[in-house]
Amino acid sequence: MENALISPSLTADIKLDSPLQLGVMASGSGTNFEAIANAIADNKLNAQIKVLIYNNPDAKVRSRAERWQIPAILIDHRQYKKREALDREIVATLKEYGVEWVIMAGWMRIVTQVLLDGFPERVINIHPSLLPSFKGIRAIEQALAAGVKITGCTVHKVSLAVDSGEIIMQAAVPILPTDTADTLHARVQVQEHLILPHAIALAAQQEISRPFA
Ligand code: GAR
Repeated sequence: MENALISPSLTADIKLDSPLQLGVMASGSGTNFEAIANAIADNKLNAQIKVLIYNNPDAKVRSRAERWQIPAILIDHRQYKKREALDREIVATLKEYGVEWVIMAGWMRIVTQVLLDGFPERVINIHPSLLPSFKGIRAIEQALAAGVKITGCTVHKVSLAVDSGEIIMQAAVPILPTDTADTLHARVQVQEHLILPHAIALAAQQEISRPFA
């Protein structure tokens, strides 16, 4: 019952010739940031996290970055009148640190074309539902309220429409009759931590193997 179904298989061996230069954007606890850092340290993902951008001064993710000695830059959305201005600052900071792929790991802001133009086809998000179900905020609560028996998590490319870009990888998680939002989210997060590093590598590999348009 506890077993999750992951697609495509995690056993697929993904080899990347040169390390991916990642920038991570996060708003909260940062367990997904930690999962990426661990996967890199364990040689499961050939990448470097060049910088963390966080938008809440109290976000726990900041101390995680400090422990990994990864630069953590606060870009507080409250300081910007328009989403585009916030994204311009984010893009400039990511470029300054040599970032090539952007990972939204619990980034709770809607992004604009400014961010997408800065990193075409290279912005990735993790969302706690089996998209296209339960887009937007409180996806775990939405799944419980809908009475579905299976939910999960999705790693996808970011597009302008919220939680709608190309799906890279998903994991399904059964909902138990006794589940609360907290217990369900905890099990979904176990799967998030498994698939996110793998999906990053998969996206990079797919980019290499895709013919030019
Ligand atoms: C994760 O569960 C992620 O899927 C979710 O926020 C959590 C962040 O956890 N993201 C969204 O809901 C985006 N719409 P973390 O800070 O422990 O990585």
